Amino acid sequence: MWRLFSRASNSPEKNPPRGLPASWYRSEAIYQLERRAIFSKRWILLTHFSRFSKSGDYLSFTVANFSFFLIRDRDGNLNGFHNICRHRAFPVVQSRSGSTSILSCKYHGWSYGLTGNLAKAPRFETVPDFDKPQHGLLPVHVHVDKAGFVWVNLEAGEPEVNWEDEHDKIDEKPRMTDFDFAGEFTFDHYWEMDLDANWKGVIENYNECYHCATSHPLIAGVSDLPKYRVEPNQSGSYMEHHIFNKETSDAQFRRAITYFLPTTSITVTDKFFYIQRMIPVSATKSKIENEVFRHKDATDEEFAAINAFYRQVLDEDKELCVGAQENLNGGVFVNGELHPSKEKGPLHFQERVKQMLMNHRKKEEQQGGQEIWPARPKFSETMTDKLQEEENFCSQLEAASCMSKPELAW
Ligand code: FES
Ligand SMILES: [Fe+2]
Repeated sequence: MWRLFSRASNSPEKNPPRGLPASWYRSEAIYQLERRAIFSKRWILLTHFSRFSKSGDYLSFTVANFSFFLIRDRDGNLNGFHNICRHRAFPVVQSRSGSTSILSCKYHGWSYGLTGNLAKAPRFETVPDFDKPQHGLLPVHVHVDKAGFVWVNLEAGEPEVNWEDEHDKIDEKPRMTDFDFAGEFTFDHYWEMDLDANWKGVIENYNECYHCATSHPLIAGVSDLPKYRVEPNQSGSYMEHHIFNKETSDAQFRRAITYFLPTTSITVTDKFFYIQRMIPVSATKSKIENEVFRHKDATDEEFAAINAFYRQVLDEDKELCVGAQENLNGGVFVNGELHPSKEKGPLHFQERVKQMLMNHRKKEEQQGGQEIWPARPKFSETMTDKLQEEENFCSQLEAASCMSKPELAW
């Protein structure tokens, strides 16, 4: 038996696709590298512009422990900022959504305008040389595409990744232009779900319907499952789900599902559309956040039915992801063989993640192993000798304590 197994796995002509190892789904070091290599550098689809109908409307988000918000200013522009007071780091915005004319920090009362400028810093009038313009909120890049979807990029300075290059004019494709997102749909509600599972497991589950026959009776009831396909675009930044209804099912049940790397999918039907963000919370926890928009012609019954459909599917997915994660944490399972076409979505996603992590790490190694945090502002102009000395003191201490850990000592 052993000889057979051993020979088969080493055979050069056989190289079947296998999943990433379980360690990648529980490692804190991998998670921190994902924060640097992916969530600080790629464009993240978040919401729809129709959520910001008047000046001062805002939404806040936390993605992979990066906290930021979007707010509409008096000129109608949508601005994005890290949700960090420039004084002593307290979050400026406390709720998930709202409307305000000024952004006031509750800690010591600094306040900011809708364009991020520092408007007031109590008692600092008496501090000589206090330079207000130096203390505005830290901006994030915002892109509103032609279909009205809102994206951010957290990279400080010019982003390395250009939205147009990355996303192949997705906003001009029929699956987006066929629907009038702003004119025919209105925001209805938000709901969220916590999962004890690594975010990659959630994304992989989302991007295959191999499990639909065994786990989703509702999808199996309306879809021609053997025809279900998930196809990545050329640059690999999104995946289109190609879904076919069973001939016997309601022909009106039209759906377009597109997943955008790294975290978000849009599902559109004639009755509603929803934005689903599958975001990392830690190495082994995620959150699914859903913004649901209702079509103007959907009756109460139709809207309730389609919501119930997708809620049930998500409950079923949660059970699958959490169950698998328990074993990914357990230390026995390493990886398994994936189906080359039925699991094309997960295979493609894993390859992209691997590339992004390895490329970023390579750059760090070229800098002597020093971590590169693209979302951190470049303080080259304000980096004083004192700050440099304090930073160095900490990093040397970290390196020393790392070496002294018994499991790492050689
Ligand atoms: S932390 Fe915001 S005012 Fe001090
Ligand atoms: Fe599923």
